[in-house]
Amino acid sequence: MTLYPKTAELMARGAAFLGTEHAVLCGAMSWVSERHLVAAISNAGGFGVIACGAMTPELLDNEITATAALTDKPFGVNLITMHPALFDLIAVCARHRVGHVVLAGGIPPKGSVEAIKAFGAKVIVFAPTLALAKKLFRSGADALVIEGSEAGGHIGPVSTSVLAQEFLPELAADHLVFVAGGIGRGVSIASYLEMGASGVQLGTRFACATESIAHPAFKAAFFRANARDAVASVQVDPRLPVIPVRALRNKGQEEFTAKQIEVAKLLDEGAVDMAAAQLQIEHFWAGALRRAVIEGDVERGSVMAGQSVGMVSKEEPVAVIMDELMRECEAALTRA
Ligand SMILES: Cc1cc2nc3c(=O)[nH]c(=O)nc-3n(C[C@H](O)[C@H](O)[C@H](O)COP(=O)(O)O)c2cc1C
Repeated sequence: MTLYPKTAELMARGAAFLGTEHAVLCGAMSWVSERHLVAAISNAGGFGVIACGAMTPELLDNEITATAALTDKPFGVNLITMHPALFDLIAVCARHRVGHVVLAGGIPPKGSVEAIKAFGAKVIVFAPTLALAKKLFRSGADALVIEGSEAGGHIGPVSTSVLAQEFLPELAADHLVFVAGGIGRGVSIASYLEMGASGVQLGTRFACATESIAHPAFKAAFFRANARDAVASVQVDPRLPVIPVRALRNKGQEEFTAKQIEVAKLLDEGAVDMAAAQLQIEHFWAGALRRAVIEGDVERGSVMAGQSVGMVSKEEPVAVIMDELMRECEAALTRA
């Protein structure tokens, strides 16, 4: 008997797909979504996802083994499509019989979806436009995450509410679609479920849970921040197609602006090509996020956070957060 029957009914398709009690994914967060947070999410009835980020195949191998030692519930692995060893990382997932692989950071390269499906795993993708979403489903994707610009980390230009109105009526009847970006309370989960979503994905709300290994200073910065403090980075040079990143306003964000000017100058001088320039930018982020999450340098590191950060005010165990979200969602659906 579930405590949340209306929620369970609307989440049934998503939960069956994930193999979980609740159709709630904790989106992969580089440095944050490692064994402890991932296992805690899955143990609380949600779906934890390991953030592979820039990990080598050996590190990913260790992380999957360590996570499996902490939970017997399903969890997934998030791979960044531009990782140079993408196919080796897929092979690691295959060896561990990972059930779900999330492909993030761009259009999946040729053969990657097939390589994942070949060992029986489900493929979850992101798509910024409806046309691309349809194409990815035709090419074998099993589920889609639509992520609005309210989210923490790398973001697109369109808000979650607009993406939901655009994508869900077209796709939700025949496909699994999870909604992400700006979800802080269960009432918002209820609204997306009623629009046809199979489930939701949250990051910011779980990033500073008790089980998260994020540095105490990183967590304190989250608890202090309001929605308006989580700002998107600006693009300095129109030639450099920098994907905006939403993070708490600090010195690190100013340094990113300076870094872009520096890289643009290297482009002008012909010292780097566009691919190398973009890689330099991505390396900057990976290093800056590590500085904030692991070392606690919240002034010069990147404190990636979504606008729902204003609804994160204290450290709580994942199970408490999950229960609150489900209770709020059920209350909203019952009122309706
Ligand atoms: C600190 C942080 C790091 C993140 N790192 C990644 C990542 O490595 N890969 C990824 O696909 N998404 C990443 N994200 C996005 C989350 O997976 C998730 O989709 C997003 O946080 C959902 O929106 P919300 O923050 O409004 O809940 C990150 C988000 C945060 C807050």
